[in-house]
Amino acid sequence: MTSRKVVVITGGGGGIGAATAAKLVSQDWTVVIADQSLAAATDAAERCRALGGTAEALACDVTSSDDVQKLVRFASDRFGGIHGFFANAGISGLVTPLAEYPEDVFDKVIGVNLRGVFLCLKYALPAMRAGAGGSFVATGSTASIRGRALVGAYTASKHAVLGLVRTAAMEYLGSNVRVNAVLPGPIHTPMMDSINEMAAKRNPGGGGVLRATPAPYGTPEDVANTVAFLMSPDSSHMNGAAVVVDAGNTVA
Ligand SMILES: NC(=O)c1ccc[n+]([C@@H]2O[C@H](COP(=O)([O-])OP(=O)(O)OC[C@H]3O[C@@H](n4cnc5c(N)ncnc54)[C@H](O)[C@@H]3O)[C@@H](O)[C@H]2O)c1
Repeated sequence: MTSRKVVVITGGGGGIGAATAAKLVSQDWTVVIADQSLAAATDAAERCRALGGTAEALACDVTSSDDVQKLVRFASDRFGGIHGFFANAGISGLVTPLAEYPEDVFDKVIGVNLRGVFLCLKYALPAMRAGAGGSFVATGSTASIRGRALVGAYTASKHAVLGLVRTAAMEYLGSNVRVNAVLPGPIHTPMMDSINEMAAKRNPGGGGVLRATPAPYGTPEDVANTVAFLMSPDSSHMNGAAVVVDAGNTVA
């Protein structure tokens, strides 16, 4: 048991997830880092402990109802409750026109990016409401609010994440739980590297899938800082919000 605030982070072994874990640990949160890759989660947890924090790693595939239920139970039993949940696991899918987009890859992207967030909302929110309440943040993308050629499954899944977040925010309105989305623009992480590799293969010299943008890529820490704000009481009047973190690219 711990008297500290407890936050669960899915995709916590990846770029944005691990940076958010480090940020929250530095603010005295206890962090449960869940990832499909136990090695990545363990590595991120070790880095949090090296910062003097309390962190546990757990293998969890967010497309599996059993895994998500186990994750919620693990955090609740081990640390006495969940006060923050960052539903952040996601995959990019392929850089391919819709007419050529493989159906199985489409299903996989929807499975991780949408069903994964649905399962986290379904099982974590009741546990949070039954406890001390808290803040749930899901990772959308600027692809949640813009069209983009060649990444149809990703764009559709991230649009739908906003639909789920807004639904949950309304269902829990007036309770002790808030639900918001963070929408990063391009961020330097392994996922963005792989998108740009795929785009470069498709169109050598074409500058990647993203059209030229006036603002540079962000860092995982840029997103982590915003998530930490959404987790904190400083954002207590925010619910159902979609917070863009993109240095202005979306409005340019
Ligand atoms: N990098 C960007 O530019 C960018 C921009 C907007 C939104 N995002 C979103 O941010 C989130 C984190 O992405 P990132 O850039 O840190 O990528 P990343 O690839 O570094 O991290 C993603 C993590 O999710 C994990 N994961 C994948 N499938 C999983 C599953 N089924 N269950 C549990 N974990 C799983 C991976 O193992 C990995 O550790 C994603 O939702 C992504 O769509 C990223």
